Amino acid sequence: MAGALKFPDNFLWGTATSPTQVEGHVANEWTEYVAPDGGHCRLACNHYHRYAEDVAWMAQLGVNAYRLGIEWSRLQAAPFAPLNRQELERYVDLLDRLKAAGITPMVVLHHFSNPLWITSAGGWLNPATVPAFVDYVTKLVTALKERVGLWNTFNEPDTYASLTYLLGGFPPFRKWRLLSYRKTIQHMAEAHVRVGEVIRRAGHGGRTPEIGIAKNWTFFGPFERHALWDHLLAAISHHAFNGYVLDAFLGGPRRAASTFLGVNYYGLARFKNFEPMVPAGGACRKRLARLGVVCDDMFERHPGGLGIILKNFHRRYGLPLYITEHGAASSDEDFRIRDLTEHLRELHGAVKGGVDVRGFFYWSLLDNFEWQFGYSKKFGLLAVDFTDEKLPRKMTRVGEFYRGICRAGAAVAPQDSSVASR
Ligand code: BGC
Repeated sequence: MAGALKFPDNFLWGTATSPTQVEGHVANEWTEYVAPDGGHCRLACNHYHRYAEDVAWMAQLGVNAYRLGIEWSRLQAAPFAPLNRQELERYVDLLDRLKAAGITPMVVLHHFSNPLWITSAGGWLNPATVPAFVDYVTKLVTALKERVGLWNTFNEPDTYASLTYLLGGFPPFRKWRLLSYRKTIQHMAEAHVRVGEVIRRAGHGGRTPEIGIAKNWTFFGPFERHALWDHLLAAISHHAFNGYVLDAFLGGPRRAASTFLGVNYYGLARFKNFEPMVPAGGACRKRLARLGVVCDDMFERHPGGLGIILKNFHRRYGLPLYITEHGAASSDEDFRIRDLTEHLRELHGAVKGGVDVRGFFYWSLLDNFEWQFGYSKKFGLLAVDFTDEKLPRKMTRVGEFYRGICRAGAAVAPQDSSVASR
């Protein structure tokens, strides 16, 4: 393939989902939430009943890895209770089907949701959540250790804690509770260290399992260069969401709890007079367009930043890295293909430059419930028709393009997009 950017042979080419966003039939703090577009997570993609079909779709896509969440609220009815056998069997069956399809699982233990008994007891503000989580993970890991070797403890603790306690986007929708934000991060970091020990002790078929968090990395900047106050706000945000969180999880002796670092990478957020100019809310697209920057339906894109941050993490922590999420929300598939190509070119540059990146997980397998935005953001390699009660899946052109990449183990350079139609 002319102009192809070859990746290492054992590279994981995957895709990702999370339980609340795709499974349906969950009973957690999101169940009663209804987004402005009327969307809720009560049925979502019904992956709960249709996972066998979705594994078949993954096999068609040619991915060799799948990052999936396991939903705590399904498995434990009360603190320290035994795991629900039937629900556990369902996940075991899913893992066995993945194995049969040659797809390596990466299991996420916490992805923005909690059992209702955790939420009503104060969520991650309550220090008692830490031992409860450790107990749950101990039981889960004992049950799954032969099937799972890649464990992602927390997905984006920064996003979870900030949207819950600073920005009012996630239940219980609190704002500007800085202390609650910090407490949540500290409790999650402590839980990460403790479950890391549990996972390490459990092992994985005689091998050492891999353990890490997925850190969302957002760059922050001002909308106008001269606006010193927005520079200041960008620096404060960078500290609160990036520096502080990385330090809590990976600073000093805590670094030893992780064997890898997952990176979720979407782009850049600018501030204008203290207001975030992020297209997710819809209001500022035109103003951002004036700067000539490219956006999806959520964020300003910044492909070059991916290479920068990977090199930086490599230097700072010396841990193997996974891109645990990257994708774009848009109904313009040509744009999504270009966006993927540009990010993979950066990723390839980093790998060539000696950064140990072991895999890439496209967000997302399916169009799904995008939290406070409902179903309006289209991230799927497979499109889902939510107006049809059968929730049919359909391969997108982005999915076909990604299939070419997975098959070849190589990304195409932007001038050679012919792989899209193969
Ligand atoms: C989250 C996903 C979310 C995606 C796109 C990440 O922050 O882990 O749950 O759907 O971004 O917004």
